[in-house]
Amino acid sequence: MPKRSKSSERWLQRQRKDYFVRKAQDGGQVSRAHYKLAQIDERFHILSARKRVLELGAAPGGWTQYLESKLTRGFLIAVDPLPITRGSRCRVIEGYAGEDEVNAQIHELVADQQLDLVLSDMAPNISGVRAVDQARAMDLADIALQACEDWLGKGGDLAIKAFQGEGLDNWVAELRKRFERVNMMKPKASRPESREVFVVARGFITAADGNNGDQAKPPSAE
Ligand SMILES: C[S@@+](CC[C@H](N)C(=O)[O-])C[C@H]1O[C@@H](n2cnc3c(N)ncnc32)[C@H](O)[C@@H]1O
Repeated sequence: MPKRSKSSERWLQRQRKDYFVRKAQDGGQVSRAHYKLAQIDERFHILSARKRVLELGAAPGGWTQYLESKLTRGFLIAVDPLPITRGSRCRVIEGYAGEDEVNAQIHELVADQQLDLVLSDMAPNISGVRAVDQARAMDLADIALQACEDWLGKGGDLAIKAFQGEGLDNWVAELRKRFERVNMMKPKASRPESREVFVVARGFITAADGNNGDQAKPPSAE
């Protein structure tokens, strides 16, 4: 067997010790991330049986598993380039959110309906250069916001993972113009040393381009 690097050995040790990793393993959950969404939902009540939900960055499927247990009447579209463990109620789009092909598939599945909730747990591939990684994370946040502008109905909600650093404050300020209420949360299941935070924006008001969410419109092609 090839020798593990020091950093992957440290990662493995942390995983073994981590309370929420063990809880996920013992409880048959796909990943510890399951508990982050459960804790966000517990606080903000963003989910109910009939919601129509778009989930961006769904693999390996911890959030998806939680969502499928809640959404007994609505629908769930999950997007990720990596494989997602999920049940039969979830429609999967394999690819990168923000790409034209993926946008077209989302648009086809949403059809003439609107979404009630956009979720994003997307995370960039880490380069190790902090400024580069933060810029990539902010690009992903913009992709999620664009998804709201394209498909979220008036009054709908967004919950998104973001990373503390350059650009986040301005991005949140922008969000406050588009949603009635915006809160930041660090769930207990999120590692304390991680810069990740979750932004929960409720009550979608209007998009910058004047789409007031009354009607779904085709995704913007850049
Ligand atoms: C932290 S993981 C998500 C964990 C997942 N929510 C769960 O509960 O199991 C981040 C995911 O974001 C995905 N990702 C990164 N960029 C993406 C993009 N542009 N579109 C869709 N998924 C993306 C990665 O492939 C990765 O699977």
